[in-house]
Amino acid sequence: MPDILLLHGPNLNLLGQRQPQIYGDDTLEQINIRARERAEKAGYTLESLQSNAESELVERLQRAGNDGVRFILINPAAFTHTSVALRDALAAIGLPFIEVHMSNVHAREPFRRQSFFSDLALGIICGFGARSYDLALVAAIDHLDSGANIS
Ligand code: DQA
Repeated sequence: MPDILLLHGPNLNLLGQRQPQIYGDDTLEQINIRARERAEKAGYTLESLQSNAESELVERLQRAGNDGVRFILINPAAFTHTSVALRDALAAIGLPFIEVHMSNVHAREPFRRQSFFSDLALGIICGFGARSYDLALVAAIDHLDSGANIS
């Protein structure tokens, strides 16, 4: 039962090799290790999961409703623009979450401006490369530390 669940959508397993001019050089493993260490330093546990399968992400979210997760960081990747199923899972569990993107989705192709998540999210961080995850984690820790009851 991690305090913070970090979810990554499709193709993010390729970070480090995938379009480095857009997504940078850090691998997903480096991002996950950094996030776990930062969370632990702040006194929280963090679990990460990447999947290319929508169903696996939906199932992990459904479990998060019952296994003590208090906050979710999610980069839905391409599912951002397509997945009513992931949106519904987040709405169903009602946990606070931050939508994370490495690239500035608003400065890219028009279809990337459409998100099925943003209106449900506590906040959105995009455009800072791998640092987007670090910044989102700072916000998540701040939220948990403050005992904020907004969700
Ligand atoms: C992304 C942006 C999405 O549009 C894209 O499909 C991704 C990554 C990002 O982190 O910038 O796979 O979520």
